[in-house]
Amino acid sequence: MDPAYWNQRFGAADYYYGTEPNDFVASVAHHLPPGPVLCLGEGEGRNAVFLAALGHDVLAVDQSDAGLAKARHLAASRGLPLRTEVADLAQFVIAPAAWSGVVATFVHLPVELRHTVHRAAVTGLQPGGCLVLELYHPDQVRHRTGGPVNNPELLVTLDALRAEIADLPVDFLVAKELEREVREGPGPHGLGSVVQLLARRR
Ligand SMILES: C[S@@+](CC[C@H](N)C(=O)[O-])C[C@H]1O[C@@H](n2cnc3c(N)ncnc32)[C@H](O)[C@@H]1O
Repeated sequence: MDPAYWNQRFGAADYYYGTEPNDFVASVAHHLPPGPVLCLGEGEGRNAVFLAALGHDVLAVDQSDAGLAKARHLAASRGLPLRTEVADLAQFVIAPAAWSGVVATFVHLPVELRHTVHRAAVTGLQPGGCLVLELYHPDQVRHRTGGPVNNPELLVTLDALRAEIADLPVDFLVAKELEREVREGPGPHGLGSVVQLLARRR
């Protein structure tokens, strides 16, 4: 799904994924040490603004300028600073050992790019920094309550997610496949099959 698709989706005034953070991000945010946080595929900014409110210096990256314009608007409406960068994750360079946290929710990339981005995300963490990921599992095709169910090759198991970074210096603090009630603003809602990962850089 290209920038045109997401610019159209984010073109409406309301926030498709809502203005509250993803439930998993909210539940693990206390693991992120103070410092800069990178939000990848951040869309309309709900996680970025939440993390900025916790005191992090947040950079939100997305291919959709419409999404990031709404992210800046959301941050400004709460009097919070937020840096944004319009970029394709295939080109965006994650500086090594720079981030206290890297966060990506429901950013379903083609498998090779996903592999590259997740490895770069781990390498981009400072020691003690955390990678936070939530993605839809292949079982999501049964629920069809959100996610790229028409492109099931973009869905991912926990084993696949863990395997792509397992040789890097990380400890897995949360690594789960589960079914949960997903409520993401007026967008996806209902029972969903997801994978959640919280990995801390040694
Ligand atoms: C399902 S939305 C999730 C948005 C946000 N993470 C959230 O949970 O509210 C997926 C987002 O990933 C972004 N995205 C997908 N592929 C991308 C790529 N190659 N480069 C940059 N952004 C990408 C889309 O533009 C979109 O904003």
